[in-house]
Amino acid sequence: MESDESQRPTNQPQQNQALPLTLTKKPLLLYSSILVLFLAISFGFTKTNYYKAQRLKYSFSSHPIFLQTLLGYLHPNPKPRQTHTPNPISHSPSCVLWMAPFLSGGGYSSESWSYILALHEHMKTPLFKLAIEHHGDQESLEFWEGLPQHVKNLAFELYRTKCRMNETIVVCHSEPGAWNPPLFETLPCPPGAYRNFKSVIGRTMFETDRVNVDHVKRCNQMDYVWVPTEFHVSTFIESGVDPSKVVKIIQPVDVKFFDALKYKPLDLSSIGKLVLGSSSTTQNLNSKKEFIFLSIFKWEYRKGWDVLLKSYFKEFSGVDGVALYLLSNPYHSDRDFGNKIVEFVENSDIEKPVDGWAPVYVIDTHIAQIDLPRLYKAANAFVLPSRGEGWGRPLVEAMAMSLPVIATNWSGPTEYLTEENSYPLPADRMSEVTEGPFRGHLWAEPSVDKLRVLLRHVMNNVEEAKVKGRQAREDMIRRFSPEIVAEIVTDHIRKMLQKMS
Ligand SMILES: *[C@@H]1O[C@H](CO)[C@@H](O)[C@H](O)[C@H]1NC(C)=O
Ligand SMILES: *[C@@H]1O[C@H](CO)[C@@H](O)[C@H](O)[C@H]1NC(C)=O
Repeated sequence: MESDESQRPTNQPQQNQALPLTLTKKPLLLYSSILVLFLAISFGFTKTNYYKAQRLKYSFSSHPIFLQTLLGYLHPNPKPRQTHTPNPISHSPSCVLWMAPFLSGGGYSSESWSYILALHEHMKTPLFKLAIEHHGDQESLEFWEGLPQHVKNLAFELYRTKCRMNETIVVCHSEPGAWNPPLFETLPCPPGAYRNFKSVIGRTMFETDRVNVDHVKRCNQMDYVWVPTEFHVSTFIESGVDPSKVVKIIQPVDVKFFDALKYKPLDLSSIGKLVLGSSSTTQNLNSKKEFIFLSIFKWEYRKGWDVLLKSYFKEFSGVDGVALYLLSNPYHSDRDFGNKIVEFVENSDIEKPVDGWAPVYVIDTHIAQIDLPRLYKAANAFVLPSRGEGWGRPLVEAMAMSLPVIATNWSGPTEYLTEENSYPLPADRMSEVTEGPFRGHLWAEPSVDKLRVLLRHVMNNVEEAKVKGRQAREDMIRRFSPEIVAEIVTDHIRKMLQKMS
């Protein structure tokens, strides 16, 4: 095990370097000082850990990488290798090295965790060892801290798996720009020449109607390209990705974790900041409980927050007994979502209702992963009128939590939205993406008027909405349970291994 041949790709922190700025963006004082301490210690150790990285003959990102620091040196009781819990499948020489933004939070991050947890817990046949490596977006200490302890423990364990390059299938689970050679500073995937590994798989997706020429080229460098939905199978192939490489691998949702029966609702009044309208408590103490719409999204145009606000403000007023809660993260913007909403409303054609604005709240604090189910539990319906989605994690999470969901019926979510399990929102038309790297592509323009109708319908037909919510959970369990997806992934890898042997 400990032989020279063990070539687990690992990061190579370089000496004489600035500490990673990514960590200190919004540091708690305590953490930053602990990190500085451990980083200092870790530099002292790099010489002895060097050989693994050196063998890769690759110059790694100039940042000392957080995962290595965290997993290698911040472990409360780092166990020596010999006494480390034996991996039940470690007698197999084959390895699957999953490289993804495990520590970033965000879409690819929670996705990649869902696969890792599924494989770890449900792989029936001992086909391969599982290893992980952080790659892609920048690490977030906040996100890491919010992970459940068993996930952190698993991260420590899988980070230490040792694999020989020639026996490793690498899964690059990220945007193709991060694949080797990366277009930005990150540990490249694969972490060495493609030919050194047994096989390399790209796992990615897009939210528009096509794939860029450059991304197509990067996809075609891979042995396989995994995409999560039929929508992606067709857009990738139509854009020029080799059809023999494209494989649909759906993604799991943790239906045990996202199970409404297990949780009490989060107290929204303690975390939501009122942006417009007045809160029900100040308005009318003995009014019945309001109907709560929840939406979760990164603050970007693609997510259709403008469509949501327009529909909501035009449809409801202060006397309707509704509230809209928005949990958002910045995307190339600051966190001042309240001002953005007020500004948007002022610059729009939306008129203030005589009965006042229907209340909108923003949750701009970080909600830890472990608290997410309680947030869903506090809502009566989930709504997300995106222009395009890869998969739509909050949608499947809400569905697993038995919430009625209103979402645009285009792109990735068409994989699972049906009339029976949700309220699919039709698009008015396709529209052109006008900025960013996907300029010129098309995506859907969800209908403001139809969204108004659906918002009103859901709150007026609570029983029907509950039936759909129950169907949603059933469908999530039947189609996207971790054990089902683990079987799909291992099946594909089994076939690859058979082909190669
Ligand atoms: C990988 O390389 C090692 C050492 O070079 C060798 O013993 C092993 O058989 C190789 N495995 C495969 C699958 O080629
Ligand atoms: C949603 O979109 C799919 C795929 O385009 C289509 O088959 C289905 O009829 C649509 N459903 C609704 C309710 O519009």
